[in-house]
Amino acid sequence: MAEQSGNEGSPTFDKPKVELHVHLDGAIRIETIMDVAKRRGIALPVATEAEMTHLCILSKPSTLTEFLGKFSEYMHVIAGDREAIKRIAYEFVETKAKEGVAYVEVRYSPHFMANSNVEPIPWEQKEGDVTPDDVVNFVNQGLKEGEKDFKIKARSILCCMRHMPNWSMEVVELCKKYRNDGVVAIDLAGDESMDCESYPGHLKAYEEALRSGVHRTVHAGEVGRPSVVREAVEVLKAERIGHGYHTIEDQALYKQLLEDNMHFEMCPVSSKLTGACDPDFTKHPLIRFKEDKANYSLNTDDPLIFNSTLDSDYQAAKKYMGFTEEDFIKLNLNAAKSCFLPEKEKKDLLNQLYEAYGLVNNTSF
Ligand code: NI
Repeated sequence: MAEQSGNEGSPTFDKPKVELHVHLDGAIRIETIMDVAKRRGIALPVATEAEMTHLCILSKPSTLTEFLGKFSEYMHVIAGDREAIKRIAYEFVETKAKEGVAYVEVRYSPHFMANSNVEPIPWEQKEGDVTPDDVVNFVNQGLKEGEKDFKIKARSILCCMRHMPNWSMEVVELCKKYRNDGVVAIDLAGDESMDCESYPGHLKAYEEALRSGVHRTVHAGEVGRPSVVREAVEVLKAERIGHGYHTIEDQALYKQLLEDNMHFEMCPVSSKLTGACDPDFTKHPLIRFKEDKANYSLNTDDPLIFNSTLDSDYQAAKKYMGFTEEDFIKLNLNAAKSCFLPEKEKKDLLNQLYEAYGLVNNTSF
């Protein structure tokens, strides 16, 4: 698929970008997985990088279930290994710097990379000594070293998982513990058919987040119904919505969120390959969001599994959805305004963008 490959050398939007929705565990290099497996003596079902790539990526529109199954091809290699966890965070920053990202918020579930103090232990790992708290530490180290070496800014968001409500209180406690050390928000990811009324662990965690001033985003309306978006906003008090494509199926809710200037973290390539949206990009809900001057960003979500780069998403928007340079500038400014940095740092980021976009004395944006 032509629109999948990052067009190196001539990016679709050749100016600093802001990315707000990308999963660290969905943004690992195949080369690194092979390397770590070798070092740890973990047998993989295939021998070459090309075969491993084939195993880990979705190459055609699929289902969310098939997509989620891809993680079990490689997560057991990285999870529970301090060096590997630090390395994927460091390399992630390098990749984003190469893609022209000035500021990124990267998310992950600390529990999914742990092998101690986590119940159940994920990915059929044996018990080890890496706790969810350790995972946050190792990721922070990798991100910080990456920031220093590649001169961009990276912060993280910790994810609760919908099917694991018993992890969520610990997630919010980790957000609080590391709030001055790189962690900027809490997220809820996973199967949207599991609502929060039936799984109160998430609600308790989000109440604590609100009470203690931890920023909140929620995956909602990706494949799920608009009611999931409504719950995210009204019950979990989300400040941003992950995806949210299906919001437009409830016109009253959509109109309300437009008025509230709710930020939607849009991931076009992802939405095509997971089957969240019609695979025909010319029918994508993002077109409607653009026409209605909604507040949204463009993001990769899980570039490893979609075999994509940030440019793939910009390319799709330009080629099939009529996005212009001005639209890209606007959406990146909206991303910066909706990011979870403290006000002073947010202002600095915005000034950096105004300057790069030649808008220093232009107030029309
Ligand atoms: Ni996501």
